[in-house]
Amino acid sequence: MLDGYHILTLTHRNAPLEAIGQAIVPADDAQQRLCELKSRFGWSELLYLSTCNRVMYLFYSPSAVDETFIGEAVSLIRPGLAGSEVAFIASRMRLLHGAEAINHLFEVAGSLDSLVVGEREIIRQLREAYDRSHEWGLTGDHLRLLMRFTIETAKEIYSQTGIGEKALSVVALAFMAMQKANLAKDARIVMIGAGQTNELFSKFLLKNGFQHVTIFNRTLEKAETLARSFRQGRGLPFDALEHYSEGFDALIVCTGATQAVVTPSLYRSLLAGEDSRKVVVDLSVPNNVDKSILSLFPVRFIEIEDLRNTARENLAHREREKIKAEAIISQRIYAFRELWHERQIERSLAHIPDEVRSVKERAIEEVFAKDFAKLDPAAQELVRNMMGYMEKKCVAIPIKAAKAIALQAQKRAMASKELQENASRK
Ligand SMILES: NC(=O)c1ccc[n+]([C@@H]2O[C@H](COP(=O)([O-])OP(=O)(O)OC[C@H]3O[C@@H](n4cnc5c(N)ncnc54)[C@H](OP(=O)(O)O)[C@@H]3O)[C@@H](O)[C@H]2O)c1
Repeated sequence: MLDGYHILTLTHRNAPLEAIGQAIVPADDAQQRLCELKSRFGWSELLYLSTCNRVMYLFYSPSAVDETFIGEAVSLIRPGLAGSEVAFIASRMRLLHGAEAINHLFEVAGSLDSLVVGEREIIRQLREAYDRSHEWGLTGDHLRLLMRFTIETAKEIYSQTGIGEKALSVVALAFMAMQKANLAKDARIVMIGAGQTNELFSKFLLKNGFQHVTIFNRTLEKAETLARSFRQGRGLPFDALEHYSEGFDALIVCTGATQAVVTPSLYRSLLAGEDSRKVVVDLSVPNNVDKSILSLFPVRFIEIEDLRNTARENLAHREREKIKAEAIISQRIYAFRELWHERQIERSLAHIPDEVRSVKERAIEEVFAKDFAKLDPAAQELVRNMMGYMEKKCVAIPIKAAKAIALQAQKRAMASKELQENASRK
C-alpha cells in the first residue's frame, strides 16, 4: 500500500510565516543536513521543499513513523534554535501518512493549499525541489513515481478547473499593496536580490512605468541583466550596498538569506540623510529586513504576512473551482494506488525476463545443442524465432497474472476499509 509515504510540514495554515522562516534549512549546508536527517531516521527517500508559505519534508520510510521524532528533526535542521522555538515549531507541524500525505501533496501542487490559491508558481518550485533533492542523492523510485504523477495531477487541475484563471500571486498582491502608497513614476527604487521573486516584481514595476531601479545582488551579472530591462536601471554588487548614498523612495528586498540583510545601521546609511517616509517591501521568508527599523524610522512596511487577508478574498472567489479540484484529486489518488502497485509488481518480477532468456539460451546451447547443430540454417532460424516468440509470451504471463491478483487484493482492501469507515461513522 501507500503507507510508506509520509509528509512532515509547517504551513501558513498552522503557523506564522516567521516560524516557517525559522524552519527553513539554510542553503549553505542544506545537502549535508538533509542527508543527515534521512539517515538518522532511516528514511529511504526524501524530498525537501521550501516556499514563502511552507516547508515540507516528503519522505518514504520502510518502517512505521510516529510523532516522537519531530522535535529532534527540527533541532537537527536548525541547531541554533532555542528549545522553546524548537518546541513551538514542532507543535505546529503536521505529520501525514499514506493516502492523506499524497492528498496533501496533490493539493499543494494544484495550489489549493497555497496562501494565494491558484498561484501556479508552486509547480516550478516543486519541480526544482525534486531536481535538487534528486541531485543530492536523496530520492529514489518511490518519489520519482509520485512526483511524475503529482505534476500530471496539477496540470489536470489547472486545465480542467478555473482554479488558476486570472491567477494572482504573492508578488502581485505585494505590488498592489505598494501601489497604495501612490509612488511617483520617477520614484527611486532600490532592489536587493535578483532571484525569481524580484524578477517577477520587476515585471510589475516595468508594466506600471517605473524605470528608476537600482539592483544589488551577490552575483553581479544577474543584477545587471535584470537592470537592463529598465531605462534607468543599474546593477551593482551586493557589497556596494553599504556605500550607496543616493537615497531611495522604495526599497524592495527579497533574497534567500536566512538572516536580516537590512539592519538598522544599513537602513540608516541607505537613507543618506533623508527623513521622509519610505516604502519597504520585504518578500523574503524569513524577513530580510530587521523589523526594528519600523520603530526607528518612518516606514510603510509591506511583508507577506500582511497579505493574508487579501489572499483570503481571492480564495472566496475560487471556492467552487476548489471543490472540482478536490474531486479530481480523489480520483487521482485511486489511480496512483493502482500505478504504485503495478510498479511494485514490475520491480518484484524484474528478474523474470533474464531468467526466461537464460532458459532459452541453455536449451539451444546445452540441452538440445547436438540436435540443434544437425539442423540446416533455415530450420535453425525457425527454431530461434519460435523460441524468441515463446520468450516474450512467457515473460508477459506471470506479470499479467500478478497484476490481476494485486488489483483484486487492492479492491478487497479498499472495500473492507470503506466498510470499516461506514461502520465507525454509524
Ligand atoms: N518564488 C516565489 O514565488 C516567492 C514568492 C514570495 C516570496 N518568496 C521568498 O523569496 C525569497 C527568495 O526566493 P526566490 O524564489 O526569489 O529565490 P531565488 O530565485 O533562488 O533567488 C535568491 C536570491 O537571493 C540571493 N541570495 C541568496 N542567499 C543570499 C545571501 N545569503 N545573501 C545575499 N543574497 C542572497 C541570490 O543571490 P545570487 O543570485 O547571488 O545567488 C538571489 O538573488 C525566499 O525567502 C522565498 O521564500 C518567493
